[in-house]
Formats: sequence, structure tokens, C-alpha cells
Amino acid sequence: MQTNNQLDLLRDNIAALRKNGKRIALVPTMGALHAGHMALVEEAKRHADAVVVSIFVNPTQFGPNEDLDAYPRTLERDSDLLRAAEVALLWAPQAATIYPEGFATKVHVDGPSAGYCGGARPGHFDGVALIVAKLFNQVTPDVALFGEKDFQQLAVIRRMALDLDFGLEIRGVPIVRDEDGLALSSRNAYLSVEERRNALALPRALHDAADRIRGGADVASTLAAASADILSSGFAHVDYFALADSHSLEPLTHYDGRSARLLAAAKIGKTRLIDNIAI
Ligand code: PAF
Repeated sequence: MQTNNQLDLLRDNIAALRKNGKRIALVPTMGALHAGHMALVEEAKRHADAVVVSIFVNPTQFGPNEDLDAYPRTLERDSDLLRAAEVALLWAPQAATIYPEGFATKVHVDGPSAGYCGGARPGHFDGVALIVAKLFNQVTPDVALFGEKDFQQLAVIRRMALDLDFGLEIRGVPIVRDEDGLALSSRNAYLSVEERRNALALPRALHDAADRIRGGADVASTLAAASADILSSGFAHVDYFALADSHSLEPLTHYDGRSARLLAAAKIGKTRLIDNIAI
């Protein structure tokens, strides 16, 4: 595996990987890799000849009171994991390479970025769209893979890739969960033992609410009961617990049999967790 943090070298690396018409997959990450990221890499290998992974803790997607400084940075361990997974290239730029002095461009995606995490974290998806657009331009992948855990992010990126004619394939990869059901996340590292135990209320509430909605229960009262369940299990705050159309993310007040997703975000201690489930 080659590791690189210089843009001009990256272009040479990509040109070398591209030789003989080889297909390139990109797996963008912020590092602190876990089995969820490695599932993206394994899926990427099924859809390309060479896998490029980027690791960059992107400051523009963090709000002023969020965990940018505390975000886990484990580059050496991450490199070992990626090397063992036979990744071709690790792109790990510095902030000054991505955002040089004078940087003044914004990328804003309307539509799927409205509400949910977009409402709770103003500017978050502008930062995500900006870095992902830059990574697409830098790596020029044929296919890029994102986890379905960040379901709204995946919808925003699909919209942007279509609207800006990036001409690549975007693939969503199912959520990877711990044995007890908690969705894997780099932020799970912040949880105390008690918070980790109580956090299971989130996937449990999603699962129960999905069953009820599939069974024809009233959507509004099911969502309200699910939020109340989470709060009574030790969560401090529920940002949202909502039913949405899987493609547009438009909120649904009743379930009409279309492809829909239950989306939730809630805070336990100081840690904000997100999760979702298909209906
Ligand atoms: O999902 C993430 O880890 C990040 O939001 C991403 C897509 C790598 C952009 O920084």
C-alpha cells in the first residue's frame, strides 16, 4: 500500500493505478477505522481493481461546539488495517493541502440536506459536500462507497454527484452492528460503560418502531413513543426520530408501503449517536 499526503504525488499514484483501464474505488473516511469502514473496503474490492481510502478529519463539517479536537486520530493503526486489507493507496492529506490559505468555495446541496442532522447540525452537510466533491476531483474514482449508517449523508452525496455530473457510481453499504445491535461508529469510543449499555435503547427503539409501523400502527404516536423510550433509557436528548422516504428523505406522516426509512439521532452523555432502519 502506498501512503501519500501530497496532491501532485496523488495524481501520479492515480495515473499509475489507472494503467490498463483499471477501475478505481474510493472509500472516504475520517479515520479511527472500525469493522464498518472495513466492510466498505471489502465491498469496494468487489467493484474495482484498486481501492483508495482517504483519511481526513474534515474541519468544515464540524460545528463550533462539536468534537473536532477530540475526534479520535489513529493513523498508524488505521494504516496497518488498510495494508492488511490490501488497499492500494491511502490518501491522508493535511488540512493545509485541502484548505490552503484563501480558500473561499462552498458547496451546498438543498433537498435531502434539509432537516434531521441538517437541522440539528447547521452547515454540517455543506462541509461534507465540499470535502467529498474535492475528494472526487482529486481521486477521480469510478465508484465511491459510503455507509448507510449516515443515511442522510449518503442521500446528500448521491444528489450532489448527480447534480454536478461527477459521473461516478455511488454505492451505499449496510450498517455494521456490534453483536448486541449497536451500530459501529468512531464516536462509540466516547461512551462510558454505562452509556454503552444504555445506548442499546436506540437500535431497540428503531427495531420496535419499524415492526409497529410495518404492522400498520399510527406513525406519529409510534415515533413519539420511541422517543420517550429512548429518553427513559438514559439518553439526554432526542434530536429527531422520524419516518422518511428513502430517496428524497421527505418526512412521512403515514406509511403507504413505499421504500421508507426510520431515522434517529439522540445524545447520551456528551455523545451524539445516529442510527436508522429500513421499513
Ligand atoms: O462519513 C464520514 O466519515 C465523513 O462524513 C466523510 C464522508 C468521510 C466526509 O468527511
